[in-house]
Amino acid sequence: MNRSVPYTFPCGIHAAIIMDGNGRWALRRGLPRLAGHRAGAEALRRTVEAAVDQGIGTLTVYAFSSDNWNRPKEEVGALMQLLRTWLRSEMRRCVDNGVRVTFIGRRDRLPRLLLPAIEECESRTAPGARLHLRLAVDYSARDQLLEAARRPGATANRAALSHALGSPDVDLLIRTGGEQRLSDFLLWECAYAELYFTPRLWPDFSAEDLSQALAEFYARERRFGGLPAVVSSRG
Ligand code: IPE
Ligand code: IPE
Ligand code: MG
Repeated sequence: MNRSVPYTFPCGIHAAIIMDGNGRWALRRGLPRLAGHRAGAEALRRTVEAAVDQGIGTLTVYAFSSDNWNRPKEEVGALMQLLRTWLRSEMRRCVDNGVRVTFIGRRDRLPRLLLPAIEECESRTAPGARLHLRLAVDYSARDQLLEAARRPGATANRAALSHALGSPDVDLLIRTGGEQRLSDFLLWECAYAELYFTPRLWPDFSAEDLSQALAEFYARERRFGGLPAVVSSRG
């Protein structure tokens, strides 16, 4: 890290993506589901680059839900292996591009070999100040909320719970693959998120798709329970 450059937190919005549709992408091509997951990992690489270019401050992506353990063990094993490969190939690129990578979700059920790779990635990329990429792996919003609420000394108010979850509120939630549900992702943080659903399957998601989602986000009026700006300015 260049010590003469002060560390700054990324500014810009917090976008979150439910990266869905890998299996259907493969199925349509007569390929095994794993081919869809591989193509999905490529889409993640492209999207991280696009997110840096398009000025997103924090990007949280849903890579593996706690309920995904219910999939066949071959698929789960392949996904864990893919994550290891992704960590190996992308860590350098993230360091070079100023991307700080952290993981959210449980770590105690992940393959042991993954843990040192995750920790190394988090510490090597820690100085990155252009984009904070958060990878949700073995993640369940409901379990995370329960865990935060049960912590000894936990205080039951909004600010304390947000702090315990360690996550800023989500501004824009994108889900690819056509489904219109949250599937236990960032339930607390999405209280006022703008929701954007696209039928595009995740492996096909491009920089152009991200910029379309952002354009729609910036065209929306967020009211947070208040009145439209035009009404409130009239008094
Ligand atoms: C998302 O794609 C990736 C993970 C959940 C790990 P899917 O594997 O859910 O793809 P579809 O929904 O079956 O097409
Ligand atoms: C959500 O997708 C989890 C991830 C994208 C990692 P799923 O495919 O598991 O969600 P459901 O089963 O369609 O709700
Ligand atoms: Mg799916």
